[in-house]
Amino acid sequence: MAAHDPVTVTVTGAAGQIGYALLFRIASGAMLGPDVPVRLRLLEVPQAVRAAEGTALELTDCAFPLLAGLDVMDDPAKAFDGANIALLVGARPRGPGMERAELLSANAGIFSVQGRAINDGAAPDFRAVVVGNPANTNALIASAHAPDVPARRFTAMTRLDHNRAVAQLAAKAGAAVSEVRNVAIWGNHSASQYPDISHATVSGRAASSLVDQEWIEGQFIPRVSQRGAEVIAVRGGSSAASAANAAIEHMKLWIQGTPAGDWTSMAVPSDGSYGVPEGLFASVPVTAAGGDYAVVRDLDISDFSRSRIDASVAELAAERDAVRGLGLLT
Ligand code: NAD
Ligand code: LMR
Repeated sequence: MAAHDPVTVTVTGAAGQIGYALLFRIASGAMLGPDVPVRLRLLEVPQAVRAAEGTALELTDCAFPLLAGLDVMDDPAKAFDGANIALLVGARPRGPGMERAELLSANAGIFSVQGRAINDGAAPDFRAVVVGNPANTNALIASAHAPDVPARRFTAMTRLDHNRAVAQLAAKAGAAVSEVRNVAIWGNHSASQYPDISHATVSGRAASSLVDQEWIEGQFIPRVSQRGAEVIAVRGGSSAASAANAAIEHMKLWIQGTPAGDWTSMAVPSDGSYGVPEGLFASVPVTAAGGDYAVVRDLDISDFSRSRIDASVAELAAERDAVRGLGLLT
């Protein structure tokens, strides 16, 4: 069998805490499989390049058989040249007293530059997942600045929210997480997201027959949608290993496919289905096969689900309008 060509994977924010939890697993084959060599490109801002070089020293010291190349850089044009896959983790965090417009503007600056570099240099089979917050809107900005790359090749991560929902439902039902199927995350990766178990099953039984609406509204939805804040409060830092794990799963499922009878959640550019305005990057349930994904069609949406989806989508539209208002999106 012919050896697989190395796949070029660009990771931004490589010196950050998610980067540190991500890079070693990618290099070990956890994302692309045990037969696929990877060339890693670590992109950082100039002041963090040295720290990323330290991570690169450690990657070298692991002697990973699949690590076919390793470069650290601060130039997006070089980082995305020939890239097959990008994990866009680096983003500007909200600082003390920082206005929302300032945060959107700082991140729009980052993701517009990266989008242009991707447009100019990425490989034809390029795929990206945006992890850096506000992830959905950052994906929209990157895609808008990469007009030659199909918009659907840009996605934002809600797999962490999906995993959080699976874990909470399994615990409530007293079942193994592997018994939970067809949980969905709708909308924004923010507190407005809608974690939906109306189509979910646990050990083949409808989840809605195992838990009541009071638990769904009073416990489950707040717990999942505010889990990021809970981790920050308890851990003293935002989620890192669980976010890295979700980013690996997001890409792995996209490339290798979702298991039969289940789906995952991903923020993808809307084609107008489920009442989401076209072009907004909203999380929806998707299946994947043959290296491509498809939005799950024709699900029944209850009035309760409708109102929750609409509220989160309205927040996405407001973020898009704010970025447009700053002149950062046409
Ligand atoms: P971190 O602050 O530890 O690391 C971020 C890194 O990004 C820093 O090293 C910084 O120098 C780098 N960076 C900033 N601008 C960059 C640029 N233009 N190019 C390259 N690198 C750049 O943060 P973290 O904990 O690793 O989190 C990263 C992002 O992921 C944050 O925005 C966080 O809110 C987000 N996040 C998202 C999810 C999700 O589920 N979507 C979950 C957890 C965290
Ligand atoms: C998470 O969901 O853990 C993060 O997006 C939280 C955050 O604000 O960084």
